[in-house]
Amino acid sequence: HGAPVPPPQKWSFSGPFGKYDEAQLQRGFKIYKEVCSACHSMSLLSFRNLAEPGGPGFSEAQAAAVAADYKIKDLDDKGEPIERPGRPADYFPSPFPNALAAAAANGGTAPPDFSTIAKARTYERGFPWFLIDIVTQYQEQGPDYIHALLNGYEDAPKDFALPPGGNYNKYFPGHSIAMPKPLSDGQVTYDDGSPQTVDQYGKDVAAFLMWAAEPHMIARKRIGFQVMIFLLVLAGLTYFTKKKVWSAVH
Ligand code: HEM
Repeated sequence: HGAPVPPPQKWSFSGPFGKYDEAQLQRGFKIYKEVCSACHSMSLLSFRNLAEPGGPGFSEAQAAAVAADYKIKDLDDKGEPIERPGRPADYFPSPFPNALAAAAANGGTAPPDFSTIAKARTYERGFPWFLIDIVTQYQEQGPDYIHALLNGYEDAPKDFALPPGGNYNKYFPGHSIAMPKPLSDGQVTYDDGSPQTVDQYGKDVAAFLMWAAEPHMIARKRIGFQVMIFLLVLAGLTYFTKKKVWSAVH
């Protein structure tokens, strides 16, 4: 599509022993809440997920406090529509009443839901990478792309005809994206001393979106490793069993 391959970043969660970095997920969530959630829904995640093991490490009380900050559309006992504060079991709501309104507010293109976006975006890295990636289990294309996209806003080249409402982005396929540059340096305040740069914001929100798309990744990798050890031991046992059972046959 003419878009360059996003530069691969270092992720704490890559590789067979990779783990999410709690502090990074909390920073990423802060960015989602303060910036992205103005346009992007995250409808498969509920507030209580923030307090589940292997995630950003919120306490249940903290997750409930986050929920209470959101207004949730509901019905009262008589079936009349009301708005009430969120509860841990509620899902992250859409900022728009429906998909048409979401598109209308964004020049005709609805912002995609964030629940699985980090797993839903991929690209071809070409030869020889597509062979190497199978062996190294490269699974971080989504976060690499999201980080690149957030850092990819540039002035359009002179010969590029940017359609009305389009924003030039180096890493978006076709380069004209309906999303205006959402982040700039210093926009979100970090209280753990991390750099307040678009580069760091991009990494943090991409890591958070990876967790949102794959909240049980740490458990998956741990169990996967245990299964490999088990299979190795079992293979040894079956080998010696075979030797014993067939020992009389020459
Ligand atoms: C699309 C991330 C904030 C409006 C997207 C996409 C991503 C993304 C990953 C998908 C791009 C693709 O399809 O390959 C983010 C992040 C944000 C953020 C991480 C916060 C830091 C916003 C805000 C708005 C917005 C504040 C509205 C003002 C849109 C729209 C699209 C989009 C309209 C569709 C673009 C198109 O297909 O042309 N965003 N976004 N986003 N976003 Fe955002």
